[in-house]
Order: sequence, then structure tokens, then C-alpha cells
Amino acid sequence: MSQSSGTPHLTVVTHPLIQHKLSIMRDKTTSTASFRRLLREISLLLAYEVTRELDLTTERIETPLGPMDAPRLEGKKLALISILRAGNGLMDGILELIPAARVGFIGLYRDPETLQPVKYYSKVPAQLDARMTIAVDPMLATGNSSAAAIQMLKDEGAKNIRFLCLLAAPEGVARMREAHPDVPIFTAALDEKLDDHGYIVPGLGDAGDRMFGTK
Ligand code: URA
Repeated sequence: MSQSSGTPHLTVVTHPLIQHKLSIMRDKTTSTASFRRLLREISLLLAYEVTRELDLTTERIETPLGPMDAPRLEGKKLALISILRAGNGLMDGILELIPAARVGFIGLYRDPETLQPVKYYSKVPAQLDARMTIAVDPMLATGNSSAAAIQMLKDEGAKNIRFLCLLAAPEGVARMREAHPDVPIFTAALDEKLDDHGYIVPGLGDAGDRMFGTK
């Protein structure tokens, strides 16, 4: 179950199971172990939605009862790109559903002077131009690092890109729409706003800290 929220650029996946699990994740008393498990479970459900438009072909097979032209995924294996570090939590679940996906990582930090994202790591699969590429980061907050990560993927040749997150702020959606109108965003919820520190409100706090038990 999903709805395009005002613009086809943004899909909020409103499935009741996702919404229920997300509410438990938001609760500050939820343990690290539960947070991680719920994120993995939600990522499976989000992956179902974000891959809805993968191309199919058919392959002749024999079932025990006879021949059939059976649907199979067409083209190159898709690429999953984790935006470090919190992206890893979303990626683990998706890989359970799509184990043959190729995997890449992009690491960015925010320069304390300029507040602009700076790349410190990048390793992505070959032939991105021929793959559906799904960039994952649980929190779309200001959108600055997400927009920079998407630009890096485009510079590597990616053309068919989707962005998958758990929570989005209107500010982040607007930034992405401005920088990359061709990249659809899939999220479990569109929250109210950012606070003065760039945290999503009501949000769930720092996703990386909550999933890894750091602070
Ligand atoms: N990153 C997080 O982990 N949480 C936020 O609320 C915003 C950015």
C-alpha cells in the first residue's frame, strides 16, 4: 500500500505493517536489538515497493506438469548503495530479499566550516549505467548528503536511480527534488520538519546511534 504524496517524485509507503513497526522504532524506550530487527523487517517491505518496476522477461521452463514461459527479472543485477553508516541497517534487509544485488558504499561527512558534505569513501559496482540503482539512507533530513551521494552515482554513470529511506523531512524532499527531479524517493513516512540541529521531528533520533547502540 503506498501513496504518491502530492508529487510522483515521492512515494510514502503507508502499509499498516510498516506504520506499526515504525511507531515502535520511534519510541525512545525501544531497545537497540528491537530497533535493528524492525528496521530489517521494514526494509523488506520497502524493497518490495521500490522494485515494483523492475523489468521482466520470460524463460521457458518445465514444471512437473509441463512447459511454461515463466517470468524472470531482466537485465543486469540491480545495485544497492548504502550511504554510510546508517544505510547499512536498511541494506541488510533488502539483501535478504535480493541476494544477487551488487553492493556499493558511499561515505560522506559534513565539513564543520562549510557544512557541505565531503566524500571520504566510495566503492560502487561496475556498469551502473545498465542497472537499477537504489541508494539507501534511513533519514532524509536536510537532503544535502543524499543529493551529493546521488550526484556521485550519476558521475559514475548511474541513470536509473531510486532513493529509499525510512523517514523524510519536507526540507530533504525539497532539496532532492531541486537537485535530482529524476530520482524517485520512497519512504515509510514524511515527518513534520527539521529542528535547529537538523534532526527530523518527531523522527526517531539518530538512526545510526539507535541501530548500533552508540551515542
Ligand atoms: N540523521 C538521523 O539519524 N536522524 C535525524 O533525525 C536526522 C538525520
